Amino acid sequence: MTYSKNIIDNIFGGIRPASRALDKAATTIQGWYDSGTIPQKHWAGIISAAKVFNHSLSSEDFFPQQTTKLGSFGYPFNKIHCLSIGDFNRPDIETLLSLGEHYLDLNIQKNPNNRVLKGKTLINLFFENSTRTEKSFELAAKRLGADTISMQIASSSIKKGETLMDTAATLNAMNPDILVVRHSASGAPALLAQKVSCSVINAGDGMHEHPTQALLDALTIKSAFKKISGLRIAICGDILHSRVARSNVKLLNMLGAEVRLIGPKTLLPPEAKTWGVSVFNNMKEGLEDCDIVIMLRLQLERMSDALIPSKREYFHFYGLDKEKIAYTKKKTFVMHPGPMNRGVEISSEIADDEQISLIKKQVETGVAMRMGILHALSESQDNNK
Ligand code: CP
Repeated sequence: MTYSKNIIDNIFGGIRPASRALDKAATTIQGWYDSGTIPQKHWAGIISAAKVFNHSLSSEDFFPQQTTKLGSFGYPFNKIHCLSIGDFNRPDIETLLSLGEHYLDLNIQKNPNNRVLKGKTLINLFFENSTRTEKSFELAAKRLGADTISMQIASSSIKKGETLMDTAATLNAMNPDILVVRHSASGAPALLAQKVSCSVINAGDGMHEHPTQALLDALTIKSAFKKISGLRIAICGDILHSRVARSNVKLLNMLGAEVRLIGPKTLLPPEAKTWGVSVFNNMKEGLEDCDIVIMLRLQLERMSDALIPSKREYFHFYGLDKEKIAYTKKKTFVMHPGPMNRGVEISSEIADDEQISLIKKQVETGVAMRMGILHALSESQDNNK
């Protein structure tokens, strides 16, 4: 039940009695009833009218979906951490995507806040740079009512030599509920999860995984196509160094997509053939009839050897431009997890074309998807206490 229905039915006894008690047209009340929301300018009047009916309301009662429980998504989600896509089964993933969808709708409303995480604390612990992931977790947590702290690594005791585990133990002693960790070492968040008593979210670990990126990518695709199963999806570029590719392959395979990997031999790990994907070294062949093209950043910072002849040559063979996009289906969408190297893996002409680029949509969806993930882990945490 939405909060507006709850107030109208359970406090005032229905639309007509609410119309009389609030001195508003019945059509206005009906509008609140149907939309599930009540504009903020009416809250004070409703709070004082409710007192006459012996009900004590506060502004907290006007946050959409405050009454939403994860159980209402139909599946008893019981995971405490989000470390790898492989830790989730299909119903877990469906639940997380449903929650993400729910927050996507809520986020476009004027007041998206609700209080699912009220009284909880989230700490962002990013040992590698981030714009999208760190900021979207901070925003998502705040929109759900949590207190958030982002550790400034450069000014922390890590710079005095404190180890990751000692830092984790120190933060754990402050009783956070959720730790969001990005680290250059594969497996660092999983190791940390064994040492702390709160939920740990992997925000990207080395070349291993970036599960929340895969979830937001899947939700972006689902929003665009209303399905994922049966779509042909190409992931192109620097697969070797990409945690995004590894998480996406696992998730998109689980959801029934046909996944293709495209890149030069030097940027494709030999074991990719065992991932349940088709592997291509040629963009024309790999992009044929694709519904979605996910371009990846060339991660020069992780390359110790020269794996490409030059950026210019790389763009010539593997950069997505108008000519190469013509190899795909007529109706194709392009994605990129960001940050982009324009003119290296993607042309500005493609990246900025709102008819085909979902790149901005991915960022918007990222906040909603992370709200869904935080909601699920938090409720699971409460249920396990
Ligand atoms: N996609 C992604 O992880 O971006 P950031 O590095 O900006 O967080």
